[in-house]
Amino acid sequence: MSNNPQLNKGGELQHLLTTEGLPAPILLNILDTAESFVGVPERDIKKVPLLRGKSIFNLFFEPSTRTRTTFEIAAKRLSADVVNLNIASSSQSKGETLLDTVNNLSAMHADMFIVRHSQSGAAHLIARHVKPEIHVINAGDGRHAHPTQALLDMFTIRRYKRDFHNLCVAIVGDILHSRVARSQIHALTTLGVPEVRVISPKTLLPTKVDRLGVRVFHDMAKGLKDVDVLLMLRLQNERMLGARLPSAEEYFKYYGLTQEKLARAKHDAIVMHPGPMNRGIEIDSAVADGKQSVISQQVTFGIAVRMAAMTILAGN
Ligand code: CP
Repeated sequence: MSNNPQLNKGGELQHLLTTEGLPAPILLNILDTAESFVGVPERDIKKVPLLRGKSIFNLFFEPSTRTRTTFEIAAKRLSADVVNLNIASSSQSKGETLLDTVNNLSAMHADMFIVRHSQSGAAHLIARHVKPEIHVINAGDGRHAHPTQALLDMFTIRRYKRDFHNLCVAIVGDILHSRVARSQIHALTTLGVPEVRVISPKTLLPTKVDRLGVRVFHDMAKGLKDVDVLLMLRLQNERMLGARLPSAEEYFKYYGLTQEKLARAKHDAIVMHPGPMNRGIEIDSAVADGKQSVISQQVTFGIAVRMAAMTILAGN
């Protein structure tokens, strides 16, 4: 048995729970497979039959616009049957445990669970619990991981920059509370990006973050110098215990991405954000909607990347 709970005995992807510890060939296989799905929406019939007859359950215990919807679109484009469990009106509200909910849905012959939860480790718990023929994808758990977001970010970077091996990438903002940042850092370092920077106030950085192989900056002017890719992050107010910042205005002054600060990066740098965006707090609208922004493209590529992840898991 592999030490990695995401891999089966043959070293193939059984669940997609985190980018941490996933070998580069597995990450690249997802990106390469996604390339083959990018053109599907341009066909007369926007579907392929790869997951026909499979039942995919979306279990979103936290709000989501992009991830939930693009997983649903991706599953439908693969011809799967999709069930979106309405958590608010489910028996969770009567006290049913997470694993009892999963047991009941498994009894309905679920083939795959897509799980978002406020508790770090929720998707791992389900993955350990389900039968071997059921696959689990983590769609974001607490502060821990959001692997498909990181993978669609890698896909977007590769589309615009071609090669990971000569890039300088800066992740900017609330690293401390960000599952996206953790998954991005693991994916970027595994894929061979030579310089990954994090730019953040000290109060929004995890302790010992440098052990993840990143360079730490607290000053945007220094941190953004000659950067190829900017990965902006949302201030995760819902996960902050107590005040970590003087005010939103103060944060925007020092860490909000404006055209002036962006000018420190390379002239062809791309600007990314996983969404949802707080305009005027971490990013100025002129940048979010500007010519260097690829934020909408990230969302579109997310469908192909999620199609790829589901297809690979279903085949293992
Ligand atoms: N990026 C992201 O996870 O967005 P949603 O919360 O809308 O899914």
